[in-house]
Amino acid sequence: MVQNSYFFKVQNLSKSFGGLQAVKNVSFEVKKGSLTSLIGPNGAGKTTIFDLISGFIIPDKGKVFFKGHDLTGRKPHEIVSMGMARTFQHLGLFYRLSVWDNIFLALPGKKREQVLGVFLPQTTLRDEEKILRQRTKEILDFLGLTEKADEMVANLSWGDQKLVSIGRLLATDGEFLLMDEPASGLSDEQISHLKYLIKELISMGKTILLIDHNMEAIMDISDWIIVLNFGEIIAEGKPADIQAHEEVIRVYLGV
Ligand SMILES: Nc1ncnc2c1ncn2[C@@H]1O[C@H](COP(=O)(O)OP(=O)(O)OP(=O)(O)O)[C@@H](O)[C@H]1O
Ligand SMILES: [Mg+2]
Repeated sequence: MVQNSYFFKVQNLSKSFGGLQAVKNVSFEVKKGSLTSLIGPNGAGKTTIFDLISGFIIPDKGKVFFKGHDLTGRKPHEIVSMGMARTFQHLGLFYRLSVWDNIFLALPGKKREQVLGVFLPQTTLRDEEKILRQRTKEILDFLGLTEKADEMVANLSWGDQKLVSIGRLLATDGEFLLMDEPASGLSDEQISHLKYLIKELISMGKTILLIDHNMEAIMDISDWIIVLNFGEIIAEGKPADIQAHEEVIRVYLGV
């Protein structure tokens, strides 16, 4: 059916906080398998859009659609179970637990095991545990965190903590991943690694919606860029078109 051919879209999303309209009538689409970026100055409404999409806040107006489903008003955990997951600007990790535990506890099967544990035979539980441990190991290997598996997250560098947050995102096994400023505070070397990981995820079939302020990285890896200013979309297009867009240049250079 034609109306179900999209992967993800928002239509006329609006959200006010008191007298401040943080998001104004925002509509856009994300193509399956793409890396789409949401950029704009501080306070433009980017994180609020993530909060609206992932069910953390409810829009005043507008709708969120994912693979033919209307997600508007659904709870965050329902949205995650449908295959969409996000990271947070403030990371939100279990800082007193190990890297391993942070990933392991984010795996969806973990909850099922806790709930059904008393009813399932021991062999089934052992098999499930094995699969979950294998998956945790794969994620740590992918991120290059294997050697730090036993370290407490509070003792890691900011860059490694950001990798753990991506690990928790991957643990959900979501096909649509939302990342809020994954490059902020990273060194050039860490940003290269992050760009590599993001490209790998795209080649593995994931779809990514990214917020970041690092223009060099955004221009390098994005398929499509959406620019927000004061809650409104002022431009969208391919990186080269966005770089040459007059209003975008004005907003960024303040001229
Ligand atoms: N819960 C809230 N209550 C009141 N105001 C809020 C709330 N969340 C966001 N805002 C305001 O809405 C506007 C948009 O904020 P948002 O966090 O979405 O911006 P952003 O584009 O993510 O900025 P940054 O690049 O600094 O992360 C800002 O003016 C912010 O102060
Ligand atoms: Mg933000």
